[in-house]
Parts: sequence; structure tokens; C-alpha cells
Amino acid sequence: MLGINLNKVKRIGILTSGGDGPGMNAAIRSVTRFALNEGLKVSGIMRGYEGLLKEEIEDFDHRSVSNIINRGGTILKTARSKDFAEDAGKEAAVKILKKHGIGALVVIGGDGSYKGAARLYEKFGFPTIGLPGTIDNDINGTDQTIGCHTAVHTALEAIDKIRDTAHSMERIFIIEVMGNRSGYIAVEVALGAGAEEVIVPERTFDYDKMVQDIKAGHQRGKISWMIVVAEGAGKAHELATTVTSMTGLESRFVVLGHVQRGGTPLGQDRILATRLGAEAVRLIQKGKFGKAVGILQDEINVIDLKDATHKEFRHLDSFINLIETLN
Ligand code: F6P
Repeated sequence: MLGINLNKVKRIGILTSGGDGPGMNAAIRSVTRFALNEGLKVSGIMRGYEGLLKEEIEDFDHRSVSNIINRGGTILKTARSKDFAEDAGKEAAVKILKKHGIGALVVIGGDGSYKGAARLYEKFGFPTIGLPGTIDNDINGTDQTIGCHTAVHTALEAIDKIRDTAHSMERIFIIEVMGNRSGYIAVEVALGAGAEEVIVPERTFDYDKMVQDIKAGHQRGKISWMIVVAEGAGKAHELATTVTSMTGLESRFVVLGHVQRGGTPLGQDRILATRLGAEAVRLIQKGKFGKAVGILQDEINVIDLKDATHKEFRHLDSFINLIETLN
């Protein structure tokens, strides 16, 4: 109709959902400020979809997002909601959004959060936009997710410290990193840390070969090893026991866990979050909904939320090969 959107959105809602990640605050700031500057009103929704169902909704102004671009975590807090996972929950959520005059919802989260946002649009017709906020970097349609750079960097800083001990005490270290079903963090970290082995859920791993390599290395006088295991591929403590019994060499394990999710976001994550946040508002202004915003080869990339499902890291095999080659 002459390109005029008669139902123009006047107020947008924003929430963070699933696991927090460094850079989410930068995204919240960008969406909020960009929208306010364009004359839209902004509602900050606390505790993800769970808080939405409990009507934990606050009016946001410029000051609401002051001094957060450099902070880890999310000022909106986040949660995983069982009630929202059901369609009845989504129906209730739409009623609440409408009651608060919210015409579009920006969801910052991982693939689980995206599924909810996609269904809100596809089944219930409620305008949603997704921003990829997860350290796992496992979402289709984007080269990077908000938080993944910082998580890898944080893990590397920890592993550098572990390396000092591994080398001084002549040990094998098994380091478990996060990533849910994805081996992205594991292969990035193993490559960046100069690890000898990496074990990921997407590929089968030859444990016998690893043991032979360790024994052969030991014969040659090698004194320390770093083995990175993705949480989805195995448990570091079990692996340490197995490695010790099969090689006769002393080993220790470290589970980096939630350390990887916290801390000051790196520049890359802040910049990515800021660019994607602004694009989310632009899409809403254009009346384009049910979209996921990402970055491909440093250009903004927009795909349908329903297609922004779980993806495998495209350099997985080449990274694993390189780690093996440089071992
Ligand atoms: O999706 C991010 C992530 O940190 C995964 O890497 C991990 O499997 C999961 O969240 C842990 O979730 P929680 O903090 O709920 O234990």
C-alpha cells in the first residue's frame, strides 16, 4: 500500500535470553539509543522470556544504558524459560507485549532463544528480530556471535597460565571448554593456545592414536601436553584418568566453565553488538520482521529467523588439521 506501514511500531521491547555473553550490554545500549534517537519508545524486559511472562517490564531512556558498553553480563538479566517454550506461554507473552504497547520485540540470545522468537512471528504474527548473543558461535547466518571473541580470549588467557604449570611440572593437562553441542570454542582455543589435541562433538576422535603420540613424544623427550576437550565431547576429569592410566604419565584437568562467559567484552564483541543492534532497529522501522541479524565477511547479513538454526563452524576440519600438523 504505497509502501506505507499503517501499523508503524511506536515502542519496541528488548530482552536477553539463554546464557549471557560478553557484549550483550553493548547490544542493549545500541538498540535502545538508536531507537530512542529515531523517536521510538523502548521497554527493557527483565529475565528473558520468563520475565516477560511475569510482566517485568521497564521504561528505558538514554540513561538506562549509560556506562554499560564495557560491562560483561546483561543488565536485563537472563533466564531459560520452560513456560515460554510452550505455545500457551507464547500466546500469553503476545498478550502482555500488546498490553504494554510493545509493537516489536528484539531478542538477544542463542539458537534456543531464536526458536522462540521465530515461533512468535511465524505462528502468532508478533514482530520479532533476533540478535545472535552466545559465546558458542553456532548460529546460522552469521560469521560471529556476540560474545564468542571474548570467550575465546578469556579461555586463552587461562590456558596460557596453565601452560606455565604444565611445562614446569612436566604434566599433561586436559582443559574442558564450553560450547554446548559446538566445537567452535575448542578448536579456536586449541589453535590459539598451541594445544597438541582437540576433541569436539562433531567429529570422532582417535584416542588410541593420541596415546601412541603421547608415548612417542615422551620417548623423544617431550615433557608437557595441552589437550582441549569441548564440553559436548567428553568430561575432562574422565579423560584425565584414562590418559594417566594409558600413558603412565601424570595428568591434571581443568574445567574452564563459566569463566568463559564473563568479563569485559573485547572490542570486536562491542563493535559487532553495536552494529547489529542498530540494524535491528532499522529493520523494525522498515517493517521487516521475523529476521535474524548477523555479519558475513564484515557486512551486515539478514536472514529469516526460522533459518537461523544451529550451524557447524565452517573451519572445523581445517582447524583440526592445522592443530594436528603443528603438533
Ligand atoms: O550457550 C552458552 C553456554 O555457555 C554453553 O556453552 C553451555 O553449554 C551452556 O551455556 C551452559 O548453560 P548454563 O549456564 O545454564 O549452565
